[in-house]
This record gives sequence, C-alpha cells and structure tokens, in this order.
Amino acid sequence: MALNRQFTASLEQTIEQLKADKVYKRLNYLDSPQSARVQMEGRGEVLILSSNNYLGLCDEPSVIDAGIKGLELYGAGTASVRFICGTFAIHRELEDALAKFVGTEASLSFVSAWNANEGFTATVAQEGDFIISDALNHASIIDSMRLAKAISKCTTAVYKHSDMDDLRAKLSEAKGAKRRMIWTDGVFSMEGAIAKLPDILQIARDHDAIVVVDDSHSTGVLGKTGRGTPEHFGVLGEVDVITSTLGKALGGAAGGFVAGSNALADYLTQRSRPQLFSNALPPTVAMSALAAVRFVEEHPERVKKLQDNSRYFRENITEAGFKPLPGETPIIPIIVGETAAAIQMSDMLLDEGVFVTGFGFPVVPHGQARVRCQISAAHSRDDLDEAIGAFKTVGTKLGIIG
Ligand SMILES: Cc1ncc(COP(=O)(O)O)c(C=O)c1O
Repeated sequence: MALNRQFTASLEQTIEQLKADKVYKRLNYLDSPQSARVQMEGRGEVLILSSNNYLGLCDEPSVIDAGIKGLELYGAGTASVRFICGTFAIHRELEDALAKFVGTEASLSFVSAWNANEGFTATVAQEGDFIISDALNHASIIDSMRLAKAISKCTTAVYKHSDMDDLRAKLSEAKGAKRRMIWTDGVFSMEGAIAKLPDILQIARDHDAIVVVDDSHSTGVLGKTGRGTPEHFGVLGEVDVITSTLGKALGGAAGGFVAGSNALADYLTQRSRPQLFSNALPPTVAMSALAAVRFVEEHPERVKKLQDNSRYFRENITEAGFKPLPGETPIIPIIVGETAAAIQMSDMLLDEGVFVTGFGFPVVPHGQARVRCQISAAHSRDDLDEAIGAFKTVGTKLGIIG
C-alpha cells in the first residue's frame, strides 16, 4: 500500500517547529487514580495541582463501586444509539438527578460536555437567530456557534469578556433578530473568574434573550451545596439552559449534559445529531456519575473543603510573593508571559515534585501564558503547603519572586 509520505512529512515538520519553539506538549503517563498525589511513570509520586478532580471523587469508593456495579448490571457498552437499540434505565435516573441538582425540569446526557455544547447550539439555532458569546468562552462553545452558523445561517457575535455594556449594546443592535441567545461560561476555565450572572439575567430580560450557561467548572464547585454558578448568586432555577460536564467535579470520568425544560430535552433527543448518530454515555460511567451526584448531595462539607482549600492556597501563594489572577474559585492562574516561560516553570515545578501545567498560545492570548493551579478537596493542608514551598523555590530561581 502506498502511504502518502508527503502528508506525514508535513505533520512531522510542524511538530519539529513546535519543539523548536519550546511549545511542544509532552504527555505525562500516570499509573494511579487521580487524587491529591499521583504515580507518574518515570518519576514516582507527585503532587497534582492541575486536575479537574475538584471534589476528589475520582477515587471515591462509592463512585468506583457504582461503576463496577454498572459493568455487571449493564455490560460494557450501549452498542448503538439510544433511539435505535434502547436507552438504559440508568440514563433516565442520571438525567433526572442532574436536572434536580442544577435546578431545571429535565436534562439530557451526552458523551462529553463538548458534545453537549455542540449538540445544543447547532440543534436549536435557526436562521434569523442572534447568538452572542463572551470573548473568553470555552472552545466547545465557540465551535458550537461556528457549527450553528454554518448549518442554520444564524448570526453570531462576541462581547468583550464580562463587559455588560458591550453585551447590552450588541443585543440592542440585534433587536430585529428572530430570537436572541446569550452564551457564557459560569466559571472561565483559564481565568477562574465567575460570570456576572445576575447582570446577564437582567440584560436577558431587558432584551428578550435566553441565557445559556456552561457550568463545567462550577458544578460541584460553586454555591453552598455545589449546585454551581446559579446557586452562588442565589438565582437557582432562573437560567434557561445549563450545560455541564461529568468529567470534572462529578467523578471525573467523561460525559456532559444539557439541562433545561422538558421540551428542550425532548427536542434534543429528537434532533441533536450527537444523540442521533453516536453511542450514548457508557452505563458504567452513568452509574459512577450518579453516585457522584448522590455523594455531593449527601456531603456538602466536601464542597466547603474545596472552597476553604482554594482560599487558603490563594492567600498563601499571594503571601509568597506571586500575583495570581484575583478570584474566588479553585482555578488560580499565575501569569508568566510567554508560552515558553510557562512551560519552563511547569517543568521546574515537576522537578520539585509538583505537577501543574503551563498554558500558552493558542489556549490563552499571546503574552499571557500562565501556570494554572487547580485546587481540590482531596488536598490536605500539608499538600498545599508543600506545593507553595515548591513554587517559592522555582519562583526564586526564575526571578519571579524576590
Ligand atoms: C467550560 C468547559 N466546557 C466544556 C468542556 C468540555 O468538557 P468535556 O471534557 O466533558 O468535553 C470543558 C473542558 O475543558 C470546559 O472547561
């Protein structure tokens, strides 16, 4: 068989350039579950400060046991699409529990939040609609709007990050649109900032728009009982549509969902292409995710521990001389400038036994590369102190702190 060598050569050339630019991402292989500390191939135990395991449920016994039970009860997988060969009862149970948890009538699960976002926007958008997105929304929202625009010929726009005047002005210009939709992250993943949800809801009322919030970094994280951005602001039940992931605080496996009215869940079941042309969430994952939801419902103290840990780390890393972006979430980014500097700092921290990833362009804008710390309820105070010690050592070597 004649392989296309030119194609491979062009890929290799691009990869070599990434290496030369020192922006090549190396994969670190783990031999243990996500937890406060992980076993890293070739390094042994390292403290991890870059996982979305916010509540420490990745290795929670009840979550693991539920997955094993799911395998025994339902077998390895779904073997087709839900409407073609059947929907497992666990999907319905999980979707009911998720809807109740985030304060909506219904929800529909997808194999990822990426799929949920694409499955939502591209399915509901119609010609004549106007969809506007915060400039720092997650890539899955951006791509979902590109897809929606290509399919439906709706109009899309972007407002400056958390700039309510800009949002208002652009919605006013779209007065003639058939429908208006505002898309925002609940917590912005690279900044750790929280969306100004009460303002957004008011603006939506003033402009007859619907509000869609991706709460992937807020579900299980914000609010007294972990119900996300709406609970944080006391507006639970007031957001038209919430999307979120099962791959972060809720067990960390995979999967996502769209939550809203019964009609929305039904409509997406009928028309959303990831539902109609792709297998459903594996039942093992659905079982684990449901156990994770139950765990959070029964253990609000775990949410409090995450919030306390985040405050402690933020205060102490600031005291150590670093200037993290201000905020109140477990995402605590330390801006270092160029991508290569963020990668260097991350490598040096790993040498000190702390695994925390550096992010640069194109994930964040040029010149704003950062080391993004993510705190978990799984961390003990000793873990956090150890991490801060490593940051001090590396920060001093790099001249970031005095
Ligand atoms: C805000 C946001 N939305 C969606 C996703 C995608 O989640 P999933 O891994 O479930 O596809 C992420 C993951 O990084 C995210 O941060």
